[in-house]
Amino acid sequence: MKISVIGGGVMGEIITRSILNQQIAKPSEMMVVDINASKRRILKKKYLVATSKSALKAVFNSEVVIICLKPQGSNQVLTALKGKIKSDALVISIMAGIRLASLEKWLGHRNIVRSMPNISSRIGEGMTVWFANKNVQTLHLLLAQMIFQSFGKELRAIDENLIDSATAVSGSGPAYIFYIAEKLIKASIDLGFDAKESLKLIRQTFQGAMDLWDETALSPKTLREMVTSEKGTTDAAIKTFERLKAGEVLTKGVQAAFKRAKELANE
Ligand SMILES: NC(=O)c1ccc[n+]([C@@H]2O[C@H](COP(=O)([O-])OP(=O)(O)OC[C@H]3O[C@@H](n4cnc5c(N)ncnc54)[C@H](OP(=O)(O)O)[C@@H]3O)[C@@H](O)[C@H]2O)c1
Repeated sequence: MKISVIGGGVMGEIITRSILNQQIAKPSEMMVVDINASKRRILKKKYLVATSKSALKAVFNSEVVIICLKPQGSNQVLTALKGKIKSDALVISIMAGIRLASLEKWLGHRNIVRSMPNISSRIGEGMTVWFANKNVQTLHLLLAQMIFQSFGKELRAIDENLIDSATAVSGSGPAYIFYIAEKLIKASIDLGFDAKESLKLIRQTFQGAMDLWDETALSPKTLREMVTSEKGTTDAAIKTFERLKAGEVLTKGVQAAFKRAKELANE
């Protein structure tokens, strides 16, 4: 199956590697487009795929076109492809904030899936939320699903607005987790551990908590209550979080990301 990936940056590389690893396409069937010559050289050497600086050259005989450009300025690149993608090809966009209506207009193409993966795709543990316009046929829906599953879990959204929600929740989500880890490492250092020890403590606490959640399949609330005894130490911490409205702070952050995802559509 001929697949072209437009934008061979962080996500473009992850998607290329995952498609090859899962044998959805052979290296000889893939072309990665990037403006950066050194990136093209590296991708060619690592994955034995064809590379090009011309998106036009890549798309004309592709059965799947995956757009991994930064949203800003992508309209110029995509408008130049107007009418050049085969009408029965599937287009998949992973760009934050860019709506299907814009993609349809810029590309003059109707068979499009819009998606939002996240950085954990790098290790095959991504979370991708996707939405297909009504023109996408069953075989293409299955193909899109298979591509998303090649780098993690996927969820098909029933409403395009949920892609912006996913951007704010699971798209940016790994960064929120790392932010919380950073703050806990700082708290650990404040309580006397050195930086290396704190990193070890927090890393294993995250790992253990996640594995426990996975293995028990209990809700986070149940798990939290299991380790919180009335008037105990955890209870003191949780009550402080509640008093300082930590939950509200997190919600506000996620809402700010959602607002930003909406704004990106107009930039
Ligand atoms: N990173 C994430 O965690 C993540 C998660 C979900 C969704 N996304 C979405 O994925 C998209 C790509 O993100 P990314 O992190 O992979 O960005 P990135 O690393 O900057 O990749 C974009 C690539 O496209 C290249 N490029 C720029 N203009 C081009 C053109 N005209 N033709 C061909 N290639 C061009 C860039 O080259 P230069 O670097 O030389 O400009 C870069 O290599 C974004 O739209 C983002 O919203 C990212």
